[in-house]
Amino acid sequence: MSRKYVIAGNWKMNKTPEEGRELASEIASIISKDASVDVVVCPSFVALDRVSQAIEGSAMKLGAQNLYPKTNGAYTGEASPEMLRAVFAKYVILGHSERREYFGESDAFVNEKVKFALENLISPILCIGETLEQREANETLEVVKTQLLGGLEDVESQSMGNVVIAYEPVWAIGAGKTATPEMAQEVHASIRALLTEKYGEAIAEKVRILYGGSMKPANADSLLSQTDIDGGLIGGASLDSKSFCDLIQSARAAS
Ligand code: 13P
Repeated sequence: MSRKYVIAGNWKMNKTPEEGRELASEIASIISKDASVDVVVCPSFVALDRVSQAIEGSAMKLGAQNLYPKTNGAYTGEASPEMLRAVFAKYVILGHSERREYFGESDAFVNEKVKFALENLISPILCIGETLEQREANETLEVVKTQLLGGLEDVESQSMGNVVIAYEPVWAIGAGKTATPEMAQEVHASIRALLTEKYGEAIAEKVRILYGGSMKPANADSLLSQTDIDGGLIGGASLDSKSFCDLIQSARAAS
């Protein structure tokens, strides 16, 4: 089963609109119209519009880092799917461990956002992953299962073509520490098995499952060669055009 790789850059709270425009233009000029890999950049809300303009006409796609599951109204500090669509965002990162940890986001709230994103034609990148403590207590597969099934509750099979999953072990994020390809593959395979149980094999085989956590050009080839790793959600290495484009190159080579 061949799934199209996704290389997505999560810029987190980095890059002003002008810096974002510059970075996105550099990446766009390097990858041009080559769409063999889905390339997504996810700037902060304030940089979305400028980055959107910078990538217009290229094969790159835009993603946001969050959304609020309401159409509009008195929700200070939040952004609706309609606002994201207005700047041509096609993806949204949901359930990132930093939002779970610093903003107390629960599986139920993440689930509400996933469903609302889908209803509004934005593809969620649903992030799941265990902490170091949970891994050491042998709870990894259980934690991943709870977050996956919690995030996908009441999500119908016909929507699953628009859902991307990102497995991000919390202990590997920004730590310079990466899961070994075998460790990551084990969890990715268990995620696919859970998707198979819930949605059947034909659908589960189509869902892209990305790895995230200190992915960089030096370790990308071995991660991307694993059967169930279909791309990366990249933090630090997505802030530099050369590293990010090297990662895209690795995904093209693995395709
Ligand atoms: P790093 O690549 O900086 O470890 O971040 C990964 C991540 O959290 C992407 O969402």
